[in-house]
Order: sequence, then C-alpha cells, then structure tokens
Amino acid sequence: MPPPAPEIKPAPGRPLMVLGLETSCDETAAAVVVRDAEGRGVIRSNVVRSQIEQHRPYLGVVPEIAARAHLELLPAIVAKALAEAEVTLGQIDAVAATAGPGLIGGLMVGLTMGKAIALGAGKPLVAVNHLEAHALTPGLTEGLSPPYLLLLVSGGHTQLLAVEDVGRYRRIATTIDDALGEAFDKTAKLLGLGFPGGPEVERLSRMGDPTRFRLPRPMLGRSEPHFSFAGLKTAVRQQASAAAPLSDQDAADLCAAFEAAVMESVSDRVKRGMALYEELLGEDAARMLVVAGGVAANQRLASALKSLAPSRGYRLSIPPIALCTDNGAMIAWAGAERLARGLTDGFDTAPRARWPLDSAATPVLGSGRLGAKA
Ligand code: KG4
Ligand code: ZN
Repeated sequence: MPPPAPEIKPAPGRPLMVLGLETSCDETAAAVVVRDAEGRGVIRSNVVRSQIEQHRPYLGVVPEIAARAHLELLPAIVAKALAEAEVTLGQIDAVAATAGPGLIGGLMVGLTMGKAIALGAGKPLVAVNHLEAHALTPGLTEGLSPPYLLLLVSGGHTQLLAVEDVGRYRRIATTIDDALGEAFDKTAKLLGLGFPGGPEVERLSRMGDPTRFRLPRPMLGRSEPHFSFAGLKTAVRQQASAAAPLSDQDAADLCAAFEAAVMESVSDRVKRGMALYEELLGEDAARMLVVAGGVAANQRLASALKSLAPSRGYRLSIPPIALCTDNGAMIAWAGAERLARGLTDGFDTAPRARWPLDSAATPVLGSGRLGAKA
C-alpha cells in the first residue's frame, strides 16, 4: 500500500508553482509553471527532448524504444527544468505527471517518477489527462477561460470538444478511423517521404497542383459532426499506384490534392461542430475556437480556420506551436489549474492507455490509433 499523498486545497489567491512531467508518446519533457494569484500562467522553464531520431528508422513511434528512452532521459530533464527555473523541489507546490491517454510504457515511467518525486519532497501529486492539458493550454498562453470550442488535431487524436470549465468537457466529434496527423504520416509513408510525415507533406504540397488529382472530401455535408480520413488515404494510394512510378512533381501534386481535400473536410466538420456546440451550450457558447495538437503547425489548416472562424462570428486562437505539440508546461499548467481547485490524486493512481475526457461520450468505431495519444 503506498502512503497517502498529501492533500492540499490552497488558499484562494495564493500563487502555485508546479513541476510537470510528460512522457505519453515520443517527447520526454519537464517544466516548471507558476499560476499567479490572479490565475495567470508564467512558464519558468520548459524542457522538451524529442525522440524522433530514435524512431525515424521505423517510420513511426516504437513503444518499447519510447519507454526506454523516457527512463534514460527523464531524470536529467527534470533536473534541467528545475535548474532553469532556479527552484528547488522544496519550493514547488505539487508534481503533475501525465497519467494517460498514451503509450502505457512511457506513462508508467513518467507517472512513477512523478510519484517518487512527490513522495520524496512531501508534495501532492496531480495525475493529468494529456488531452485536458492540450485543452487548457490557451489559459496558459493567453489567459483564456472556458467556455470555448477546441479542435484537437494530433498524431493520436482528432476531436472537437466543448471545454465548459476545468474538468468539464463534452466531446462533440471524433474521428471514426484515423487521426488527422496519422493520415498525414500514412500519406507521407506511402509516397516514400520521411517521418513525421505532416511537415514533409506540407513542404511538398507547396510545390504541387491541388487540382490535378481528384480526391474525395470525407464526410462533407454529413449531419453527424465526425471526421474520417482512412478513405482519403486509400484514395491517395490508388492514385499513386495508377501514376507510378512517381516523379517528384507527381508526389507534390498528390500532397497538394491531399491537403486540399483535408482542409475542405475539416472546415466542413468544424462548421458542423460549431452549430452543435452552440446548441449544447446555448447562450453560454462563447464564439471562440481554439486549435491544439501537432497538426496545428500546418499553415494551410491555420489559414482555412482563419477564414472560417470570423465567417461564423468566432475568434480563433492557435497557441505558439511549441505549446501545441507535446510539452511539460501544459502538464504543469493543467496540474496547477487542478491544484487550485483542490484536485489532487493518490499515489495508487494507475496510468491509463485510454482515458477519454468526456466519459459519457459514446465510443465511435475506430477513433484513432489504439492506445495512441494526442
Ligand atoms: O501533437 P503531436 O506533436 O504528437 C502526437 O501526435 O502526440 O503531433 C504530431 C503529429 C504527427 O502526426 C505529425 O505528422 C503532425 O502532427 N504534424 C503535421 C505538421 N507538423 C506536425 N501535420 C501536418 N502539417 C504539419 N506541418
Ligand atoms: Zn499531445
């Protein structure tokens, strides 16, 4: 039996300093964030070490390699985060660690280390849902408070969520098959491009003609708000084999056609999601669209949403890309937001490969990679 974790409900208005650990996929990260007396966030340090080089030869993330790398890297990264923030463990108020969803080996490493640090320093533990950390990031980057509509697009997840409050999320839409980042990665793979595929597809598509190959627009006009990308990827494969052997220009044209189809489909789905969000929250539905996850780096996605949002009366927020992709600051911030509300966790908390933010949402066939993370 682990000893009980200290529980605290901080006095309102007291600044809180939290150490955050992130190990759910292929970034090993630690950060120190302060939530000040007014509830604003200040990043004191944010150390992220990508494992992309270790996974690149396999054209994807290998869970066993990821877990081992987290184990090797995390102690030095935590030490660096504390040193850069110029604080000691005695000065922090809590340790936050990602407890899910994600690759179970990495989660075990990060959560166990978070528990060990908290136990050794006599501090409370906050077991953070990685999706909640993405969802709350605009509070850290621009002081934005819920409610807002969140489009989360990463290698593991593609969701539209109504963020009603800290701890209150309603899933509006999800993918019925591949996540958007996964579709980019698979498209890159079948065109013989590198890993991760998103940036490669985006780079090539700038040189391509989006009209030469005709690809389907998945889910366009459907009343349910969900996403689907598997059919699009298959259509790219068929067009690619029909045109084989592919010249550089063929590959660029296919990338451009893929991106054009994705943007039309995503814009249509977000439009449908906006209507449902407004129905769900009624008068409380602030017209605010937030984008998070690695695919938020895509410039064509940003410009599609930049033109869609104002046309529906929405303001658009895309956090700086370093905070859209996986990082420790978002975990520390989510931890601080929970701690401020007295929400801490026991040392017996187990990591969870699957951990939906909206537990009431009905599962949809597929919904992204099995056991994958956002
Ligand atoms: O959130 P993230 O850093 O990691 C997880 O998936 O957890 O997202 C990575 C995903 C990958 O699938 C990558 O291909 C995609 O984001 N991505 C992009 C771009 N940059 C990264 N997709 C499209 N365009 C980009 N510029
Ligand atoms: Zn993520």
